[in-house]
Amino acid sequence: MLFHWFRSVHKDITNDIVLVTGGGSGLGKQISLIIATHNPKHIVLLGRNEAALTSTRDEIVESGCTSCSYVTCDLADSNAITEKLDTIRMTIGDVTILINNAAVAYHTSFFDSSCDELTRSFQINTLAFYKILRSLIPSMVKLERGHIVNVNSVLGVLPLNGAPFYCSTKAANLGLVESIKDELRSDGCDYIHFTNILPYQIDNTMFSGVKTRFPSIFPPLKEVAVAKEIVEAILTNRENLVLPRYMAFLFFCKSVLPVGVMYALNAFIGVDQCMMGFHVK
Ligand SMILES: NC(=O)c1ccc[n+]([C@@H]2O[C@H](COP(=O)([O-])OP(=O)(O)OC[C@H]3O[C@@H](n4cnc5c(N)ncnc54)[C@H](OP(=O)(O)O)[C@@H]3O)[C@@H](O)[C@H]2O)c1
Repeated sequence: MLFHWFRSVHKDITNDIVLVTGGGSGLGKQISLIIATHNPKHIVLLGRNEAALTSTRDEIVESGCTSCSYVTCDLADSNAITEKLDTIRMTIGDVTILINNAAVAYHTSFFDSSCDELTRSFQINTLAFYKILRSLIPSMVKLERGHIVNVNSVLGVLPLNGAPFYCSTKAANLGLVESIKDELRSDGCDYIHFTNILPYQIDNTMFSGVKTRFPSIFPPLKEVAVAKEIVEAILTNRENLVLPRYMAFLFFCKSVLPVGVMYALNAFIGVDQCMMGFHVK
């Protein structure tokens, strides 16, 4: 009870500048709208789709909770990332909360896959994340204040066939974050917080068509509910958030059960075939 009370005490983010990649649409939009209600100093939305970014920016500004702006940036363009982050630093200030949410997922089998898809997946999902971290963490260290939010996926821990590049970028990001976190802690920079978010399928368009054998037992998560939990995790400096929470039990099973038992379990639930209906929007 006391533990629960301590966990639910929210940190003050009124002096924080929040950068949300992919903040114009999907889960990133919902996270941005919800975190805005906690009155951060400013929110910057980053994405490619200017109409979506403008509309989300306008919703946040109209809410009267905080100021908000956006930058258009293709995360596949490494030079553009540096340029845009420099512009944010000069015109708005140092970002102290990064919500790394933007990502792409391609449906492919290994035998149909190409190096181009692999390259693009890693450019957008992993290299861009690294580049943003490389740019933002030094100023967080100077300010002795920062929070890195890694919007990941259960597929980063439990990869499935049908999305080899998505799964590998998400696994790479978990390794990247854990290693940087460890380095910063060893250097005494434990004022920089890290939160890994590992959701199961969400009811939006990213994984449309994906179905398990028992959709009523394992229904997709509601986008707004996931966004609320993410913001709560940020405000309470939670290190890992697995959604739904029982998925953490599957992580445990994977680490202790014989491989054959996990294959049989996956086949029974239908997750071994669930990506077959996956079509990229
Ligand atoms: N949907 C799910 O079932 C699910 C499950 C687990 C985890 N997740 C994770 O949740 C996060 C959000 O995904 P979502 O569900 O909201 O999917 P989504 O609707 O497809 O959103 C993806 C976001 O990434 C941005 N983006 C994609 N490519 C980009 C690029 N080259 N440059 C800049 N921005 C780019 C898009 O913005 P623009 O269109 O403006 O470029 C969009 O806002 C992702 O990290 C995803 O891996 C999703």
